[in-house]
Amino acid sequence: MKKKIKLPLSEVYKLIESGPTVMITASLKERPNVMTISWTTMLDFDPPLIACVIGAQSHTRKMIEKTRELAINIPTVEIAKKVVACGNVSGRKVDKFAKFKLRTLPASKISAPLLDECYCNIECKVVDMSMAKKYDLIIVKGIAAWVRPSKRPPATLHHASGRNFIVAKKRMIVK
Ligand SMILES: Cc1cc2nc3c(=O)[nH]c(=O)nc-3n(C[C@H](O)[C@H](O)[C@H](O)COP(=O)(O)O)c2cc1C
Repeated sequence: MKKKIKLPLSEVYKLIESGPTVMITASLKERPNVMTISWTTMLDFDPPLIACVIGAQSHTRKMIEKTRELAINIPTVEIAKKVVACGNVSGRKVDKFAKFKLRTLPASKISAPLLDECYCNIECKVVDMSMAKKYDLIIVKGIAAWVRPSKRPPATLHHASGRNFIVAKKRMIVK
């Protein structure tokens, strides 16, 4: 086995694999928006509680602070370019749905639209913003979820920094 070398602490985030990169949709006064995030984690099973890091500077954060609602949309490799594009421009300046040709569906319980091209959509309500000011951490509860059934495991995108992603395609059972 090769000897380990020192890893700069600034590189650690690339190795602690987050869940799939997701697209957060929100809507305020019937004006929807979408942003990409990769920093999320599960906190509980049922109802699902999910912690999301949503930067205070983002337009989406301002919308969520007012409506306390959002949808988590899980994309796959087919729309990777749109995923990156939605994380590199603010909805303050552009209509990302029109610019990146994103199809939407109405949600059942919240005002934010759902992204049709994503294989899964989770409608969520904010349950705790007490750590938002300090850590940009917002805890949400899933109140409805939709999935496009498929025999193959979804090829989700797992962020590995910048424009690099690890694509999850394979499933294995450890016996
Ligand atoms: C792959 C990827 C992952 C990102 N992850 C996060 C994240 O976890 N949290 C965050 O606040 N911003 C994240 N961003 C940046 C936001 O998507 C970006 O600031 C976006 O332009 C905000 O859009 P808005 O102003 O329309 O809300 C990520 C961007 C990319 C491309």
